[in-house]
Formats: sequence, C-alpha cells, structure tokens
Amino acid sequence: MPCTVILGAQFGDEGKGKVVDYYSKDADVIVRYQGGCNAGHTIVFGGQVFKLHLIPSGVFYGKRLIIGNGVVLDLETLSKEIDDLNPKIEKLDLLISNRTHITLPFHKELDGIEESFRGKSKIGTTKRGIGPTYTDKVARCGLRIVDLLDNEVLDKKLSETIMIKNRILKNVFESKTQISKKEILAYCIKHREKIKDYVGDASVELNNAIKQDKNVLFEGAQGTLLDIDHGTYPFVTSSNPTIGGVFTGSGIGPKHIDKIIGVMKGYITRVGGGPMTSEMGKVIGERTREKGKEFGATTGRPRRCGWLDAVILRYAVRLNSLNGIAITKLDVLGGLNKVKVCTSYKINGKTLEEFPASLKILEKCEPVYEEFDGWEDLSEEEWMEIVKKGYYALPKEMRDYLKKVEEIAGVPIFLISLGPDREATISIKEIFDH
Ligand code: IMP
Repeated sequence: MPCTVILGAQFGDEGKGKVVDYYSKDADVIVRYQGGCNAGHTIVFGGQVFKLHLIPSGVFYGKRLIIGNGVVLDLETLSKEIDDLNPKIEKLDLLISNRTHITLPFHKELDGIEESFRGKSKIGTTKRGIGPTYTDKVARCGLRIVDLLDNEVLDKKLSETIMIKNRILKNVFESKTQISKKEILAYCIKHREKIKDYVGDASVELNNAIKQDKNVLFEGAQGTLLDIDHGTYPFVTSSNPTIGGVFTGSGIGPKHIDKIIGVMKGYITRVGGGPMTSEMGKVIGERTREKGKEFGATTGRPRRCGWLDAVILRYAVRLNSLNGIAITKLDVLGGLNKVKVCTSYKINGKTLEEFPASLKILEKCEPVYEEFDGWEDLSEEEWMEIVKKGYYALPKEMRDYLKKVEEIAGVPIFLISLGPDREATISIKEIFDH
C-alpha cells in the first residue's frame, strides 16, 4: 500500500511544502485534498523561492499532480499559477477533479464583508473566499468544475446563486454593491479555457494508480488545530486538514493508506485569531518571528510564535493516527540559552492533559513548562555541513530535544529539516519501500 499522507500537526505553516517536495522524488502522484488558495506552500531549490497556493508541491519533480474534489479552487489564482510555472518546468502534468468546487470573486468579497461584520470576534481569515465557498458547497448551491464546463448548467447555476447572493448583500449586509452575472459568466468562460484540458475523474485515476502499485503522496494544507471539526472552533478554516479529509477530499478509502506523517515545527506559530497557550513572550517571540521569517506566505501577516506544545502534539498524533513526525525549523531556535516545552496545561490548579473543546476553558489554561538546554546558533552553511554528516552530527542538546519530542509523540521522527533548501534535510526513515 504505497500511499503516504503528509499533513500539518499544528496551526498550519509547519513546512509541509518543503517536506512534500522532499518526498516527491520517490512519489509517482501527489494529491491536494482540501483547502484552497489560503495555503501558501513554500519551496526553495536552486536558490529560488516558490510559493504554491493550489498546485501540489511535487511540481518541480515533474510528477503527476492531482487537485482533489475536497479543494476549493480559485480559477484566477490557478490560472496565474499555471502561467508562472510553465516557463520553469518541462510539463505541467495536472489533473483537476471534475467534482472540485470553485471559488468565485464574490466569495472573496463576502469573506471580507463577513469578517468586517464580526467586529471583535473576527476570525482573521485569509480573505481568499474559503469559508463562503465551502458554505455554498454544504448549502448545495456551489459551482463545481463539471458545471463550469457545461454552458447550460453554468448559466442556470450562476443565475440562481447570484440572485440569492445579491439579496444577502442588499438586505443582510446593506451593501450597495451587487454582483453582475454577466461579469461572472465572462470570468468563468475566460478561465475555463486555461484549465479545461486538465479536468477529469480524480477518484478513478487515483484508485487505478493505487492498483498499479504507484507511490501516492497526499499533501495536506493548513493544520490539525485549524480543522473545522477538531480545531479551535470557530478560529479554524472551513475544511478538514486532518486525516478524514484525505478520503472525502480525494475519493479513496482508508485501507489504502500506509503511512501518515505529521509535520511540525520545533516550536509553534499561528496566524489569525484564537488562543495559543504556549505563546512566547515579546522578546523571544519577535526574535523567533524574525529569525524564522514567520510571516504568512499568502497574506504576509506576522505569525504569533509559541513554544512547542505537547498537548497539541499528542492531540495531533491521536486524531490523525500519525505513524511519524517530520520536524522543521529547529535551527531557528539556535542561540537560545534554554528552550521550553509546554508539557501540559493548568486550569484552576488542576492539570489538563487533553486538548479541551471549549475555547473558554482553553483561554484560561496556563502552560506548564519543562526547560531544556539550548543549542548553538549556526549559519545556513554550517547547518548544511552537519546535515551532510547526518543525525549524530547534530548538537547533543538538539538531539536531547528531539528525543523529548519522540517521547511526547510516541511515534518516531522520520525527517529533520534544518533550513528552507531541499538539501537541508536529514532523512531518518524512508516513507516509500520502493
Ligand atoms: P480561512 O481559511 O481563510 O477561512 O482562514 C481561517 C483561519 O485559518 C485563519 O486564522 C487563517 O489565518 C488560518 N489559515 C488559513 N490558511 C492557513 C494556512 O495555510 N496557514 C496558516 N493559517 C491559515
């Protein structure tokens, strides 16, 4: 069963793009199964930085890429990404599921309007129309790729949905702006030209690939704590970045999955609103943000930084049945005298081991920390020298920290990333057997 899932074990931005890119060399097919262009997967190779929002991260290895039905697809962003990538790669071998839902310009406008109406309770969304597109999907008035390709269906669906949206804009939000069906139709027709040749039945192709024993990599977007069901609701995204999203979002069954790898940073970050129990103090927080370049790949917003949180790590292992961990950015913590791990939460003098459902409780939780000796601050070149020598060349303090991570998680570390470059990676365990 050569299927592996790479998903986020924290609040997104864990370095999934780099990890997926690294493993893509041994994969035949790479699949995105949820989220949309709220994701920004950064890949660095040959000294160049690439930020992918929709196209799976294996693109630079020239592999077969699939955008599954669980993704919400912004036609404009995808068209741009295709245009940007084409001169840099030999061939874009892409399949877009015909069941994928489409983010239209009014979804983005509604995302912004809804956020402004939330006032102090705003979620801090990326304003990429993610929530409104998934809302339409669940309300059964969304537009799918298969509808986009059929003039009659496209016209009918746009008429119905735009009529309702205009009523909402006028009567609920008291907005003077109205959506023009003519403009949206023209937008759809323009962009479908760019994508129509990539459309097909992703579930059929994927299951065939599995039957042929091909190596399939599933690339999660966002992270476990942003999951609509299991995250810090309502400060979450509108999809399932956790393991269940793979199956509903791609059209395969769970028996095909061989390994599930959770990607985590050596610390945590969060962008947008919502509680973060182990948030660092101002000085170390700012140092980590600057050193780790912790600014959103999609929105450029500064990310909040926190110490590694064992309650979250255990939660991610349990929810996703993780087989292993890929840990990134431990180099960023280099130069600190002490590094901390939040081992549990305290509330009203009592210890809380499990991640609570209630945000009211979570907001009152205080972190219980264990301290570890820090490791040296090295340059990118020095880390690369260490990477070449392998795991035992890592500073002893870092290896102690990694042992603690494995002890908390109860699963082994598969990969250690010590820099943005593809080469700055120590692989401890392989994910594909052949
Ligand atoms: P939305 O997905 O744009 O609706 O945003 C909902 C929440 O998820 C906000 O707190 C965003 O900052 C967060 N979020 C969405 N996508 C990402 C991501 O790729 N990385 C980190 N946070 C994200």
